[in-house]
Amino acid sequence: MTSENNIPRGQLLLRTLAMPADTNANGDIFGGWIMSQLDLAGGILAKEISSGRIVTVSVSSITFKKPVSVGDVVCVYGECTKIGRTSMNINLEVWIKPVREDNIEDRFMVCDATFNYVAIDAEGRPRPVQKK
Ligand SMILES: CC(C)(COP(=O)(O)OP(=O)(O)OC[C@H]1O[C@@H](n2cnc3c(N)ncnc32)[C@H](O)[C@@H]1OP(=O)(O)O)[C@@H](O)C(=O)NCCC(=O)NCCS
Repeated sequence: MTSENNIPRGQLLLRTLAMPADTNANGDIFGGWIMSQLDLAGGILAKEISSGRIVTVSVSSITFKKPVSVGDVVCVYGECTKIGRTSMNINLEVWIKPVREDNIEDRFMVCDATFNYVAIDAEGRPRPVQKK
């Protein structure tokens, strides 16, 4: 699923700045850093939904559509698409607000992914998620 009309899907979960230390050998931002931001953002939503501790169990899909540059404002949006007994599937999108462009509202999507989380108890065992 992709966003249409330049509108991100879901709520803004995380906003940060791409820094020089996060670059790859090409000088663009390293994909592993972007994955880390996705995991943080999805984890925030999963914690909120399940009101407690969670772990990442898997990544169903991830697509890098465009490179990210140093100085870009990186925004991660997300929405929960499925709540199981103990698990949550979360669709995530990374959007860039290019600060070097004249029009800073000219945002575009660079990555989309689906991350899966499991709510756990204090012993690390899966615990039921209450559907609200
Ligand atoms: C995630 C973890 C708690 C699941 O424990 P488990 O005993 O295998 O749990 P279960 O087999 O009962 O599955 C629990 C839920 O996870 C789901 N699940 C298991 N493997 C999955 C996978 N690969 N992808 C998506 N969901 C998965 C199950 O479908 C189930 O969902 P449901 O309760 O909504 O039906 C355990 O595997 C674990 O601790 N993994 C390490 C997590 C981790 O360290 N992550 C990285 C840092 S956060």
